Amino acid sequence: MTSLDLDFVRSQFPAFAEPSLQGQAFFENAGGSYTCAQVIGRLTRFYHSRKVQPYAPYEASRLGGAEMDEARARLAAMMGVDTDEVSFGPSTSQNTYVLAQAFRQWLPEGSAIVVTNQDHEANTGVWRRLSETGTEVREWRIDPVTGHLDPAALAPLLADGKVRLVAFPHCSNVVGEINPVAEICAMARAAGAFTCVDGVSYAPHGFPDVPALGSDIYLFSAYKTYGPHQGIMVIRREIGFTLPNQAHVFNGDVLYKRFTPAGPDHAQVAACAGMADYVDALYAHHFPGQTASPLARNTAVHDLMRAHERQLTQPLLDWLAARNDLRLIGPRKAEGRAPTIALALDRPALPVATALADHGIMAGGGNFYAVRPLAGLGVPDADGVLRLSFVHYTAPAEIDQLIAALERVL
Ligand SMILES: Cc1ncc(COP(=O)(O)O)c(C=O)c1O
Repeated sequence: MTSLDLDFVRSQFPAFAEPSLQGQAFFENAGGSYTCAQVIGRLTRFYHSRKVQPYAPYEASRLGGAEMDEARARLAAMMGVDTDEVSFGPSTSQNTYVLAQAFRQWLPEGSAIVVTNQDHEANTGVWRRLSETGTEVREWRIDPVTGHLDPAALAPLLADGKVRLVAFPHCSNVVGEINPVAEICAMARAAGAFTCVDGVSYAPHGFPDVPALGSDIYLFSAYKTYGPHQGIMVIRREIGFTLPNQAHVFNGDVLYKRFTPAGPDHAQVAACAGMADYVDALYAHHFPGQTASPLARNTAVHDLMRAHERQLTQPLLDWLAARNDLRLIGPRKAEGRAPTIALALDRPALPVATALADHGIMAGGGNFYAVRPLAGLGVPDADGVLRLSFVHYTAPAEIDQLIAALERVL
């Protein structure tokens, strides 16, 4: 099987050639990734030559609008959905906020929703607030030891048929376990509920095939997937036209405008096409001369990324699991998790992250807005966790550098 050409991958990211970053290994990717050259190139071009109001008849405007359309069309094709099922908003937190307003208006009287305590606050707090207007909020809880979210525990929450929405993460930003999204979405659908999946912590490890997952809404943040600071929403047609329009009244018949009341950031939306360029560049490099649909190219690249990540993750997990001065949160097998590895220490995490910086390790300590998961796991908020997160562009030598630094600092 083809394996990831790391030199090629890293050549696509200007950060790896940036003098001020030399010698530093980046382990806070779950906070925000490096940006690929394709995105930076498009952003620069937009600001240089297309930064006018788009969709007007003059050339600069026409090009700007066309590039924004291209971004939606190419990302949608990559993820297996229709072009108008992709929309851009300022951030995932802002996007869930808008979606929650739509649900607030739509939820029939006597309905319930399911939320988890595995989610980042962005995909749980806004939903829980629906209780203020009479919706029953049911919490699907993690195992307090492992952080695992068990689908068997969801079934009784759905049993009475009152649930209209299940909001859950593809992967938590501290537990790291990859949830069986297709199985959960099928359960929800069979019970008459829509699903809202937070893919923010998963998408950096490979863009999703949304129809295969079966979610009604899939959210992620482009600034963590090698792109600009945008939130991306896949909203399937059925739910998109079931929920009430949140945008200007005259935009209500256009699916990709219905849940983005803010005016779009034209340059950043356009630059998102660079993420598709990047996936295509990886495909062309690793599968020369082959042709495939955008979704098939994306899936092939996803699998390449994941294989590389898994190879790097297992030795790190083994090293961490062998220590008795820390609690490794989430699965110990690389197969079932993203390389977003949270550690509860015997002391506050932030000073440890600070000490790691002296060894050229960029990592973070705190709660990462995963306040509910950490509470569910019994981790004191004042201590937080040390989070080590990486992606497919990470090199084996950086893992070695991390382990050596941890050995000295812990
Ligand atoms: C899992 C997860 N969901 C949602 C968010 C919120 O994303 P945004 O910053 O785009 O609002 C984050 C951000 O860290 C996250 O890690």
